Formats: sequence, C-alpha cells, structure tokens
Amino acid sequence: MKYKFLGKTKEKLSEIGIGTWQLGPNREQNIESIHIALDNGVNFIDTAEIYGTEDIVGEAIRERKNIFIATKVWATHFRYDDVIKACNGSLKRLGLKQIDLYQLHWPNPAIDIKETMSAMEKLVSENKVRYIGVSNFSKKQLIDAQNAMSKYEIVSDQVKYNILDRAPEKELLDYLRKEKMTLIAYSPLAHGDALKRKYSWLLDELNKISKRHGKTPAQVMLNWLAIKKDVIPIPKASSPKHMLENIEAADFKLSGSEINYIDRLTSISDNRYKRSAAFRKIVDVYLIMASKLSRKTKPRKK
Ligand SMILES: NC(=O)c1ccc[n+]([C@@H]2O[C@H](COP(=O)([O-])OP(=O)(O)OC[C@H]3O[C@@H](n4cnc5c(N)ncnc54)[C@H](OP(=O)(O)O)[C@@H]3O)[C@@H](O)[C@H]2O)c1
Repeated sequence: MKYKFLGKTKEKLSEIGIGTWQLGPNREQNIESIHIALDNGVNFIDTAEIYGTEDIVGEAIRERKNIFIATKVWATHFRYDDVIKACNGSLKRLGLKQIDLYQLHWPNPAIDIKETMSAMEKLVSENKVRYIGVSNFSKKQLIDAQNAMSKYEIVSDQVKYNILDRAPEKELLDYLRKEKMTLIAYSPLAHGDALKRKYSWLLDELNKISKRHGKTPAQVMLNWLAIKKDVIPIPKASSPKHMLENIEAADFKLSGSEINYIDRLTSISDNRYKRSAAFRKIVDVYLIMASKLSRKTKPRKK
C-alpha cells in the first residue's frame, strides 16, 4: 500500500481508504472486512453520524493503533451548540477521545457558515478534533468556509468522484491541488452502478484493460482514482472478498495511454452531472425547511 499526505499536514493516509455508508446487515462480517483492510495497510476509515456505523468502526479499531478516523456532522446540526453536541456523540460512538478529521457533511444554505466554523475551531482548540474537512462543498462554498475561520485551515473536501461522475474535474480538483488540500473521492465505484448491466458498454471497456493487468473492472476504477495526485478514493465493501479486491487495486499502475483511454470513455458534463445538480437543489430546499423547523421547536435560551 502506498500513502499520500493529507492536505498540507504530515499525516500519511493509505491511497485507498474505507467507506462505511450502508454496510451490510452482518456486523461481524463488516468488522472482519475492516480488519482485512487494516491488516493490509489501509489506515483511513470514513464514517458519519448519519450512517449509523460509527459504533461499528469504533469496535473494529478498538485494539488497533494509528488508524486515521474521519467522521461527519450532518447539515441540520450546523448551529454552534449542535456541532459541539454532534461531535461529542460521534466521539462516544467511536470510543475515541479525538476525531482525526471532522467534516461538514453537506453545505447548509440556511445556517451562517461563520457560526458553524467557529464551533469547528472550538473543537480543534479543545483537542476533540485534529483536522477540519468539508464534504460536498463547491469551490465557492469551500472558500467561504475557509474565510469564516481565523485559526485553522481546511484540509480536504469529500465529493463524489468516479468514472461516471467527473464533476470535480470542472474546477474543484485544480483548486484543491493549488491550495494543497486532498480530494476524498466518495462513491468511487459509482455506488456499484458502473459494474452493473446498465453500463455494460463501460464494463466491456474496463474489462479489456483489467484483463491486461490480471485485475477486475472495479480495481481499474479505483486505480484510475488512486493514481491521481491528491485524490484518495474510499470504496465501501461489506464483504471480505470485495474489501480485499479493493485494497489490491493499489498494487498495479495503469499506463498513461490507458488513463487517457479511460478519460475519453466518459465526459465531465453528462446527464449524471445534471441529475446531481438537480438533487443538490432538492437537498437545499430540505435543509432550509429542516433548519427553520428545528429553530422553531428548540426551547429558547434565557
Ligand atoms: N460525503 C458524502 O455525502 C458521501 C456520500 C456517499 C458516500 N460517501 C462515502 O463514500 C463511501 C463509498 O461510497 P458508496 O458506498 O456510495 O459507493 P461505492 O464505494 O462506490 O460502491 C459501493 C458498492 O459497490 C460494491 N462493491 C464494493 N467493492 C466491490 C468490488 N470490488 N466489486 C464489485 N462491487 C463492489 C459494494 O457492495 P458490497 O457492499 O456488497 O461489498 C456496494 O454495493 C461510503 O461508504 C461513504 O463512506 C460519502
């Protein structure tokens, strides 16, 4: 396994991490899969308060050392007191005294980012959090979040990035590289979509390349991301078989001409990009309504 620096920090993260959203129903198997990854050099696990998997991650790492844990505060918890409370909840479920990377899960247009970032700074100054990250933030939202802080720097943006969803290539990836931040690539296997019959045209092409290396199409998809500078994919695998396959995606190298070929298979502004922009608008409306509602129902402080 090779390692990459996280942003400007001295932290070295495995070039393939572990995602934990929608783990399978078998807790023991999930833990076994995580152990397989850790035994094979993976040192980076991503979770979130809304995944309901922080306790599984906590159990999986209980006897382990030097594992870098990233979790996230959900967007309806972006008010100052809610951020602090959410962090304390995550620490408890993870069984940790400190979270390595605490990420804002999704931008919330209804809450002033200054209020949220001031809580994030407080958490770092209290040693409950080591590094601050964001997720699903555009370049502008990232800049606004950074400008809202005076003491610390954002080290990463976690966004959807895979062969079918290449929106970060529009401007975000270049910006992150320029500012020396890491792009944590979620849904690197397109949530499994790219490996289904619906995308058989893509699968056929990936198959041709993967066979040359004695690898699988999933491994080609992950390698395509892992060899990119400042990008760390975090595939989710519930089964030990998938987990091992994903880790072994790091032990070969696509050639330059293969990368160019894969790049030409999909476009950065296809229909999936338009669909995800529409989805973001729906989430915005939901967050505005949810944030208004929670303000109304909270008891006022005297
Ligand atoms: N920040 C955010 O808003 C956000 C959003 C989505 C995801 N994420 C993070 O990113 C992680 C990964 O994204 P994701 O879970 O959406 O999707 P993904 O990792 O792209 O794909 C997961 C799917 O692919 C399957 N799979 C895994 N390895 C495989 C292999 N080697 N061959 C064939 N199929 C394989 C999995 O099946 P099995 O489970 O059966 O192995 C699962 O169905 C999440 O777990 C989460 O940590 C973050």
